[in-house]
Amino acid sequence: MKIQENVSLKEYTTFKIGGPAKFFCVVKNENDLIEAFNFSKKNKVPVFVLGGGSNILVADEGYQGLVIKMEMTGIVHAEDGDVVHVTAMAGEDWDKFVEKMVGMGFYGLENLSGIPGTVGASPVQNIGAYGVEAKDTIELVYVLDMQKDEYKTFTNNECKFDYRNSIFKEEEGRYVVLSVTFKLNKKGRLNFGYKDIQEAFAVKRIKVPTLKQMREIVLDIRSRKLPDLRKYGTAGSFFKNVIVSSAKAQELLAKYPDMIVHAVNNKKVKIPLAWILDHVCGFRGVKKGNVGTYQNQALVLVNFGNATAKEIIDLAQKMVDKVFEETGIEIETEVEYLN
Ligand code: EPU
Repeated sequence: MKIQENVSLKEYTTFKIGGPAKFFCVVKNENDLIEAFNFSKKNKVPVFVLGGGSNILVADEGYQGLVIKMEMTGIVHAEDGDVVHVTAMAGEDWDKFVEKMVGMGFYGLENLSGIPGTVGASPVQNIGAYGVEAKDTIELVYVLDMQKDEYKTFTNNECKFDYRNSIFKEEEGRYVVLSVTFKLNKKGRLNFGYKDIQEAFAVKRIKVPTLKQMREIVLDIRSRKLPDLRKYGTAGSFFKNVIVSSAKAQELLAKYPDMIVHAVNNKKVKIPLAWILDHVCGFRGVKKGNVGTYQNQALVLVNFGNATAKEIIDLAQKMVDKVFEETGIEIETEVEYLN
């Protein structure tokens, strides 16, 4: 394994933005990983583990540490009646993995089709789409604890999963995910809860879709709503959706009667931030210099070519300020900033 110096990180991210890593290496197995850590300890530099680079914004100045590009691969599964326990290594491409599972007839991940990134990032972010989150099928997460220098296995409960959050994100920089075990099912049920999915099947007049059709519908919806990564630099939703008290939601509904709200429980309500950005703040499809928001999704910031991290941050700050001014809501970024 080779440790390289001054490697531009731009091309390793879907945003296609950012400066170089002082040190950079690709790890393909546990020996490589240990070697990389020894290097970081010896040289007293921090470590950042990079998967598919689909949820990060790299600073224009780059990163003064060691970036480890996780490329450990391999998938194994064990069947127990209709239940299938599938373990995938962290460096597996997420969507190729989902495609494989759907192809094998294993239910559970189909609604998470088309999400860029790696298997290793799925528990960190608790990736979610179309009514399903990674936490719904994750059984075990096998990690290296960099603080204690030891391996550890987390059960689903121990991962402390929450909306786009987990213990791995909370204790950032401590754990490196090595593999994830998912509990899938050969006779699972499809999840139709999400409005877009119901509408798409209605349009196609499909009443009882198959597992493969569910994946196709999700890929189809995503291709319409989200930018094509081959054409635009982006990291998907830049901010998290907002959760407010029912009282706050009522106050906003009085002002914006068309606002979309989803009850989380009897005290809290989730509001799609994209709706606020679009209908209250007029941020859908805006363009300033090399950056803007996607024409079909206001929550998605886009690099139209040669954008700097500063341009993205400036636009994001404008959005934060405007949402606060109009609604009193403080929004949070979902994308991670590496500097
Ligand atoms: N909407 C607007 N204007 C827009 C976009 C959306 O009014 O510009 C409205 C839509 O009509 C819809 C609602 O807002 O009723 C929600 O939009 P959408 O279904 O596109 O989902 P979202 O809440 O904006 C979340 C995730 C996405 C995920 C989709 C589908 C977050 C931060 N984002 O977006 O995840 O694909 O749901 O489940 O939770 C990501 O994390 O990078 C990501 C793309």
